Amino acid sequence: MSTWVRHDRRAPHRFDQLPVRSAAFQSRDVVLGDGCTVVVGVAGAGKTQLAADAAHRARAAGTGVIWIVAGSPAQVTGAYADLDERVSGVRRDTDAAARSFLGWLETHPHLVVLDGVPSPADVHGLIPVGQVIVTTQDRGAARRADGRKLVEVGLFTHGQARDRLASWLADQPHLLDGVDDLVVELGHLPLAVAQVGAYLAITCADYLDRFRAHHDRLSDLFPDDHDRVVATTWTLSIARADQRRPVGVDRPLLRLLSLLDPAGIPLRSSPHPRSTSSWTRTRPRSATPRGAWTG
Ligand SMILES: Nc1ncnc2c1ncn2[C@@H]1O[C@H](COP(=O)(O)OP(=O)(O)OP(=O)(O)O)[C@@H](O)[C@H]1O
Ligand SMILES: [Mg+2]
Repeated sequence: MSTWVRHDRRAPHRFDQLPVRSAAFQSRDVVLGDGCTVVVGVAGAGKTQLAADAAHRARAAGTGVIWIVAGSPAQVTGAYADLDERVSGVRRDTDAAARSFLGWLETHPHLVVLDGVPSPADVHGLIPVGQVIVTTQDRGAARRADGRKLVEVGLFTHGQARDRLASWLADQPHLLDGVDDLVVELGHLPLAVAQVGAYLAITCADYLDRFRAHHDRLSDLFPDDHDRVVATTWTLSIARADQRRPVGVDRPLLRLLSLLDPAGIPLRSSPHPRSTSSWTRTRPRSATPRGAWTG
């Protein structure tokens, strides 16, 4: 188990495990500060990728990095408590241990990343001294920066979105036909561009036709266009994945995974496709993930 799952003090955690930096990483025009930087942006804008890039670079330069999936204050406190026990060898009450670890960091500089904080106010009092990156979707964070450096991560530029797809399709350049119209329709959202890149076995123009058909159909469910773009790319990707062998496994598997921590799930905890192939034999099409496990 790792920091990727909700906190459980009985289990060992991996605070040195960094998210993978995207293979076609597009450098963003963003400068992180020396102290605490709060990185704000909509879902899928690339906040975690930005922090991961900084973390990988810091580590390569010899700086220790602590990466904490920070979906709640309790997760952060629990992580600090685990780390305190690891560095001191003493097991204390969680709050005392968290305070003790914050004190330890004052003399042992690390880059600390608190990724996916609901609001920076939630981790008030839990920000160590030294270099810290806090990522959040909380748009109100800009008003409550408390003197901290605030960086807004927006959408890809047209060129970045295009380059991201082009590098993905480097060995099939003919599929880039229609790429400019497609990235505009995707609203240049990094997450949507990434999902399309993972899907493409047809030209961008053909993908755009399918995209538009589904995008229109989802208008009632997702009035917000940003959400609808992501829902559309997901719908197309899941439908395609579900058709691949073993057929009919990916959709229920994703439904199941959607119940787990949004910030990352250890691959080790995912069922092996072979063990899930029985789902497709026994599971009625409408079964819930729970039914799929027991069916
Ligand atoms: N700079 C980048 N270069 C290339 N791809 C990127 C970049 N930023 C984001 N992406 C793509 O977009 C996806 C979503 O990015 P990321 O997980 O960083 O978003 P986020 O802002 O942290 O979203 P959330 O608020 O939901 O946590 C990544 O998995 C990656 O495929
Ligand atoms: Mg994130």
